[in-house]
Amino acid sequence: MIIGVVNNKGGVGKTTTSINLSSCLAINKKHVLLVDIDPQAQSTHGLGIAINGHHLSLKDVLLAKTEQLYTLFSQKNIKDIIVSSQREGLDVAPADAKLTQVIEKLYRSYWFFRETILAKCLEPVKPEYDYIVIDCPPGLGVLSLNAIKASDFILIPCEMSMASIEGVTTLLEAVSTMKGNGFTNYKIVLTLVNPQCSITNRHVMELLLPFKEKILKTQIVRNEHINQAQMERKDIFTFAPDSKGAEGYSQLTRELLHLWHIGERKGSN
Ligand SMILES: Nc1ncnc2c1ncn2[C@@H]1O[C@H](COP(=O)(O)OP(=O)(O)OP(=O)(O)O)[C@@H](O)[C@H]1O
Ligand SMILES: [Mg+2]
Repeated sequence: MIIGVVNNKGGVGKTTTSINLSSCLAINKKHVLLVDIDPQAQSTHGLGIAINGHHLSLKDVLLAKTEQLYTLFSQKNIKDIIVSSQREGLDVAPADAKLTQVIEKLYRSYWFFRETILAKCLEPVKPEYDYIVIDCPPGLGVLSLNAIKASDFILIPCEMSMASIEGVTTLLEAVSTMKGNGFTNYKIVLTLVNPQCSITNRHVMELLLPFKEKILKTQIVRNEHINQAQMERKDIFTFAPDSKGAEGYSQLTRELLHLWHIGERKGSN
C-alpha cells in the first residue's frame, strides 16, 4: 500500500508523521520504504541519512523517468537509490535540494504524463514493501500531485489551527481531481495539539464538523521530545521511547493498521 502524507500548508507535521509512522510500522515488523519527495529533504536528514554529491537521489530517478517519455529507455531504477536506515525494516528513497530540477522538467513535459511519473517509478518496488510512505513538500505543486496520484491512501496531518483547517478543503478538491470523486480513502490526523488551549481546540473541532467521519481518533500532542528528536536526526522511538510523542505515534500506527486491515477484509469479501 502506498500512503501519501500530504497537506498544502507548511509546518503541520508531514515530515514528523512520515518519519514516525514509517518507524513504528517497521517496529511492527512491516517492511517499509519512506520516499522523500521534498527538496528540503527533511525526512532524509531526520533519519540521519547523509547523501553526498555522488550518491543518486530521487531526482535522478524522476528525471530519468521523465526523459524516458522521449527516449523509451530508462537507465536509472528506484532500487539504485534506496538506502537502509538505522531502523531494521525501514528503507529510504532519499531526496536532496536538486529535486527542484525535476519540478521544472515536469512542468515542461506533456500534462497527461507529468503527474504519473512517481507512480511509475514506484512500480518496481511496490511488491517488495508492505507500506510505502511518501513525505510531500508543502503546497500543491507537481511533486505533491504526483504523490496523490501514486497513493492508495492519503494521510492529512492537520495542525489544530484555523489556517490549517482552511487548507483542507482546497487539498480535498485536488485529491478529487487527481483520484476521481469516488475516492474516499483518506483520513485527517490532528497534530501539534495543545490540550491546554481548550477554547481554540473546541473552535477548530467545530470547523472540522463537515469532516467528522474522516478525523482519526488519535491526536498528536505538541511535545518537546518530537522537536528534539528531529534535531538529533532520530525517530521518536529511538530518541524518547517513553515520551508522549512516542505514545501518540504508536497509537496512530495502531489505529491505521486496524483501519487498513478492515479495508483489506472488506476488499477480499
Ligand atoms: N507534535 C509535535 N510536537 C512538537 N513539535 C513538533 C510536533 N510535530 C512537529 N513538530 C515540529 O514542528 C516543525 C514542523 O514539523 P514538520 O517538519 O513535521 O512539518 P512539515 O509539515 O513537514 O513542514 P514542511 O511543510 O516545511 O515540510 C518541526 O520543527 C517539528 O520538529
Ligand atoms: Mg516536511
